[in-house]
Amino acid sequence: MITGGGSGIGKAIAKRFTDAGATVVIVGRNKEKLESAAAEISSPRLECMQWDISDLSLCESNFKRAAELIGGLNGFVNAAALGSAVVTGRGYEPWDITEEEWDTLTDVNFKAAFFMMRNEVDFMRARGIRGNILNIASNAACMDITGSYGAAKQAVIKWTRAFGKRFGSDGIIINGIAPGATFTPMIADYAHAIDQPYERHAIGRFIRPDEIAELALYLMSNYGEIICGHTVVADGGDRAATL
Ligand SMILES: NC(=O)c1ccc[n+]([C@@H]2O[C@H](COP(=O)([O-])OP(=O)(O)OC[C@H]3O[C@@H](n4cnc5c(N)ncnc54)[C@H](OP(=O)(O)O)[C@@H]3O)[C@@H](O)[C@H]2O)c1
Repeated sequence: MITGGGSGIGKAIAKRFTDAGATVVIVGRNKEKLESAAAEISSPRLECMQWDISDLSLCESNFKRAAELIGGLNGFVNAAALGSAVVTGRGYEPWDITEEEWDTLTDVNFKAAFFMMRNEVDFMRARGIRGNILNIASNAACMDITGSYGAAKQAVIKWTRAFGKRFGSDGIIINGIAPGATFTPMIADYAHAIDQPYERHAIGRFIRPDEIAELALYLMSNYGEIICGHTVVADGGDRAATL
């Protein structure tokens, strides 16, 4: 199950995984976005599920429904999130966000990030399923920005480590990726073309979603087991981020 699979990084992961032979269900709020991603990926091994993951009461029923749809569920990619600019049209400074926007962002980026992972672990443990969880964090967790986005992503990294160490012995391998600026709709306010120079990254360019997808495939493969509870920073040497 790939939340946020209707666009950007989640969509690229859905494509890479179906290309590799996996059967995938992509989740998002917007049905048209999901259908358009499905048409683009065009795989018989891809299903769509419309679900606003801030409604956490649907976890158990939707996990079961997904398992029925695709014949089992042994992996979760938690890619759904809201960027500050997408919600507020502004940035990450303390005065850029209202209390209402804070709630909208944190419901998805913080609260759902925790409970989705907790419920995914529950789902697999209850059924004795050995599998993987991959959390898409952000290198914003390593930057001196305020607002809720970076703080939520830092929490995701912490939970990835804590859950990873706790449940690795059950055969549930939990890892994360912290991407730098990746050319997706989330950063459309400043990334206008894939070949636009981007000096903040040492590599001088934006990261492509398919590059993150390749790393996701490794981490979710049997090889990824040796990396357990860790979030891999994939930010092209972002000069604004420090670990
Ligand atoms: N792009 C970057 O530079 C960058 C850098 C670091 C980390 N990230 C992280 O990478 C992940 C993917 O982001 P992206 O860059 O690919 O941006 P994106 O294209 O905006 O993807 C985010 C996806 O999340 C879904 N989503 C948002 N809220 C949801 C909700 N409540 N329930 C279900 N789905 C929801 C959206 O679909 P709907 O609108 O249909 O719900 C959308 O498909 C995010 O976790 C983001 O924080 C991105």
